[in-house]
Amino acid sequence: MSSIWPRLHMLLDGSVLVTGTSGSDWLLSVLGRTAASAPHHIEHFSKFSPSPLSMKQFLDFGSTNACEKTSFVFLRQELPVRLSNIMKEINLLPKRLLTTPSVQMVQSCLSHLSFKEVFGQDPVTNQNIQYFLDRFYLSRISIRMLINQHTLVFDGATNPVHPNTIGSIDPHCQVAEVVKDAYESARMLCDQYYLSSPDLVLQELNTDNRNQPISIVYVPSHLYHMLFELFKNAMRATIESHKEGSNLPPIQVMVAIGGEDLTVKMSDQGGGVPFRKMENLFSYMYSTAPKPQMDDKHRAPLAGFGYGLPISRLYAKYFQGDLQLYSMEGHGTDAVIHLKALSTDSVERLPVFNKTARRNYEVTQGADDWCVPSREPLDLAVFRLAK
Ligand SMILES: Nc1ncnc2c1ncn2[C@@H]1O[C@H](COP(=O)(O)OP(=O)(O)OP(=O)(O)O)[C@@H](O)[C@H]1O
Ligand SMILES: *[C@@H]1O[C@H](CO)[C@@H](O)[C@H](O)[C@H]1NC(C)=O
Ligand SMILES: [Mg+2]
Repeated sequence: MSSIWPRLHMLLDGSVLVTGTSGSDWLLSVLGRTAASAPHHIEHFSKFSPSPLSMKQFLDFGSTNACEKTSFVFLRQELPVRLSNIMKEINLLPKRLLTTPSVQMVQSCLSHLSFKEVFGQDPVTNQNIQYFLDRFYLSRISIRMLINQHTLVFDGATNPVHPNTIGSIDPHCQVAEVVKDAYESARMLCDQYYLSSPDLVLQELNTDNRNQPISIVYVPSHLYHMLFELFKNAMRATIESHKEGSNLPPIQVMVAIGGEDLTVKMSDQGGGVPFRKMENLFSYMYSTAPKPQMDDKHRAPLAGFGYGLPISRLYAKYFQGDLQLYSMEGHGTDAVIHLKALSTDSVERLPVFNKTARRNYEVTQGADDWCVPSREPLDLAVFRLAK
């Protein structure tokens, strides 16, 4: 335990604790103390399960009768609990990962270097890493959400651009507006790289209130993140599958709301992905784009880290939604974001460390229980005679 300790500390310092706001200094020190203190603190806090908050609870913490003290007391317990739960899981990663020099581990986590290059392609290891990273990044999203809410709500200032937001939550998040914002940003990037970009066709289906824009209680920055990633992917596919100079088919986005779900569907005509490869798309570090140059600080890459889809799906899952891809090879891809329409259904989804989680790291590669098709077709005439 003690030997890997400095490594975990670095890992978490680098990727969980980057918040950059001075107002959250004390929170960082709470986390820092947990991280730097003796491992028995981790043992202690990991015995508690994280307490998921609902959208309503987030709003209550930020409403007029919000109490900074209550929020502080809650965070002082909850942040170390969330951190300790995910730290316990780091110990369950294959031993080979844990004995890798810390610098390598941290780098591969932070700079999005390919784990494959560092650790080879053993499928069990890979499965463990994917499982861990999903939980690690979801935990990180949730910790940053808590810190953000606290600092934004209690620093006293209202957001000049969006005065009605409560921390990072917009009680009337207009989905179509976020779609347009994300499209514009992705289009700018796309124009830089390819000197052209597909158009957007946006359609809203609000069956109950035909003239009202669709809105939900949500974190606009999370929705923006997902849509921006999907737009970048759709644009890249559209352009790379069409000859220069030919007309680019538009990207079509549909927003619909019902009694339970809010759904955003983005359809491109970018040639699609073969069904066999669909599973890989949500793997961290899976990308078909050339590796971006890390030292090129002047422009963000359009693709190439292989983090776009898996992280976007985590944002969707964080408040009980999901993100799925359906593709027709030869035609194009539909990417669908499912979110909860009702704020009462939007509750944080958090990993918990217990026996069930532990068992998921102990998977072994089972032998195949399906026949391998023979290469030669069976000659039934011969078969019948022999009998
Ligand atoms: N709409 C799409 N049409 C065709 N292929 C797609 C589409 N969306 C994703 N893909 C494929 O899935 C891969 C993984 O996508 P993902 O967004 O996770 O990573 P990336 O775009 O390569 O890099 P980045 O992390 O910078 O987004 C892409 O490299 C691409 O091959
Ligand atoms: C682990 O926690 C989850 C969520 O609280 C629970 O559903 C599951 O049964 C627990 N597993 C064990 C073995 O306690
Ligand atoms: Mg991408």
